[in-house]
Amino acid sequence: MPTQAPSEKATKNPITHPERLPLVAPSILAANYANLGEECRSALDAGGDLLHYDVMDGHFVPNLALGVDMLASLKADLPEAFFDVHLMIERPDLFAEPFAKAGAGHLTFHIEALDGKDARALFDKVRSLGMSVGIAIDGPTPIERADALLPHVDLVLVMAIRAGFAGQAFDPTALDKIRHVRHLVPETRIEVDGGVGPKQAPPLLEAGADVLAAASAVFKVSPNERASVISQMRG
Ligand code: DX5
Ligand code: ZN
Repeated sequence: MPTQAPSEKATKNPITHPERLPLVAPSILAANYANLGEECRSALDAGGDLLHYDVMDGHFVPNLALGVDMLASLKADLPEAFFDVHLMIERPDLFAEPFAKAGAGHLTFHIEALDGKDARALFDKVRSLGMSVGIAIDGPTPIERADALLPHVDLVLVMAIRAGFAGQAFDPTALDKIRHVRHLVPETRIEVDGGVGPKQAPPLLEAGADVLAAASAVFKVSPNERASVISQMRG
């Protein structure tokens, strides 16, 4: 069988073309930043399907995290890694092109940051840049606020915390939000983010989530425990 060219491998999108479900997405927000390339490699070697990449601007959320140039460096170091970029910034519409150029495979926009913007045009732009697109609903936001946009995205990210920091406790009201989304869009990927680990995974999968993002559960254990954490999450 011919081997797959590196460029084909690099562009494979596990959100739109999953080889298995659920997907586990280690969130590098809780990684050791002094060694970020190695941390990414460790999470992928341990069975992570894609890397969740949190971007924060200090305005939309009261924290700063990651950016365009950091992603470009990581993508150069790990060309086969798929980066799922979660934008927690006030003007996400300005960053579709920069993140596409840096090597993002997927972009998620917060519904709370899209007021007054043409969301459908933005989604078209993201897809024209070769990425898949998602919307995120923050912990305190009623899920119904996303209803009208659900049919127009590849992924719906349900936050089980208030966006901004790793290491917060999982809010079980996310389960009802996931059931609501799964009922309305049975075929769309649903990612859950915040306080997720092996204990939370079974009820989340039962409710209909199929992408589990986790920072602390994966990165706050030693590298040799990560494979076991990820396989427990997958169930
Ligand atoms: C928080 C981020 C999450 C965060 C999750 O705003 O969007 O992706 O990394 O961290 P844990 O898994 O520790 O709750
Ligand atoms: Zn996130």
